[in-house]
Amino acid sequence: MKAVILKQIGDVDQLIVQDIPIPTINKDEILIKTKVASINPIEVKTRNGNRFSEPLLELEHPILGWDASGVVEKVGENVTEFKPGDAVFGIIGFPGFGKTYAEYFVAKEQHLTLKPESVSFADAAASTIAAITAYQALKYFGKLNADTKVLIHAASGGVGHYGVQFAKHFGAEVWATASEAKEDYVKALGADHFIDYKSQKFEKEAQNMDVVFDLIGGDYIDRSLKSLKEGGILISIPSATNAEVEEKAEKAGRIGVRFSLENNKKDMQAIAHLLNTGELKPHISKSFTIDQIRDAHLALEEGHVKGKIVITVA
Ligand SMILES: NC(=O)c1ccc[n+]([C@@H]2O[C@H](COP(=O)([O-])OP(=O)(O)OC[C@H]3O[C@@H](n4cnc5c(N)ncnc54)[C@H](OP(=O)(O)O)[C@@H]3O)[C@@H](O)[C@H]2O)c1
Repeated sequence: MKAVILKQIGDVDQLIVQDIPIPTINKDEILIKTKVASINPIEVKTRNGNRFSEPLLELEHPILGWDASGVVEKVGENVTEFKPGDAVFGIIGFPGFGKTYAEYFVAKEQHLTLKPESVSFADAAASTIAAITAYQALKYFGKLNADTKVLIHAASGGVGHYGVQFAKHFGAEVWATASEAKEDYVKALGADHFIDYKSQKFEKEAQNMDVVFDLIGGDYIDRSLKSLKEGGILISIPSATNAEVEEKAEKAGRIGVRFSLENNKKDMQAIAHLLNTGELKPHISKSFTIDQIRDAHLALEEGHVKGKIVITVA
């Protein structure tokens, strides 16, 4: 099968498409023929060097990728929930490795959810790490409801565009930051108030917020604290730049959350339901082939993606 191998930490030239054997499964595992894989900043960061890189490079086949959809090809004898022919999607292996940049991948039952028939393989593959992050952050930590005022940063990107939709689903009033050219798109996602982060100061435009969902980190932590009301909640997700969120928030009389997603099947099923009812609409701005993986990584790394980028494998 075709798979993208990471040769070593470095630029996109370290991503090599190779022909390797189709993986074998044990009795608890499922072999899936990949339809679509979606890509995330975490894979770009792993390629560039982070806590995942060394353990990945120690594998016989260091294949990146966690998000995917596909069709079950074969199941191990202990597998009861899925059968060959089922259309599935999920966050595979996380926080271990999913190896989804390939024509086949192996998953455990707990990491797979049935894809609703009405949902495309691309939309399902896109609604994985980014979607569950926004869902869990806003539901469990932000506890959004009809009385919540929430500011969502980078509302135009992978996590942010799901964040705006979930926030509206939970009934909140949404302030959203992105750059000027993306105003119509972000408002169409449901944002009530748009802030152009390049020409406006969000901490002046969005005041007295109950919750800020920070997708940037660094000085956005200090600035976002100024947008929050006393006791408000700042949820920050970029692990490389959010180390001080809890301490800084506490000093300011606010609550800081250093968020990490939990690979939870119940939440993936809730996402599948919202995709099926049409309440959640992924925006896929670009689809690449597996042979174009370098271009896909470059496009994401530029940092201006609208919604999600996917790799159409079959
Ligand atoms: N902790 C976790 O569990 C977890 C889970 C998922 C993601 N993450 C992290 O969360 C971050 C966001 O992920 P993502 O997938 O949403 O990224 P993404 O899709 O690459 O985000 C790109 C978007 O961000 C916007 N943007 C960039 N700088 C901005 C700024 N200063 N203010 C407002 N918008 C800005 C860009 O808009 P313009 O083109 O208009 O600038 C673009 O539309 C990444 O660091 C990722 O690693 C963490």
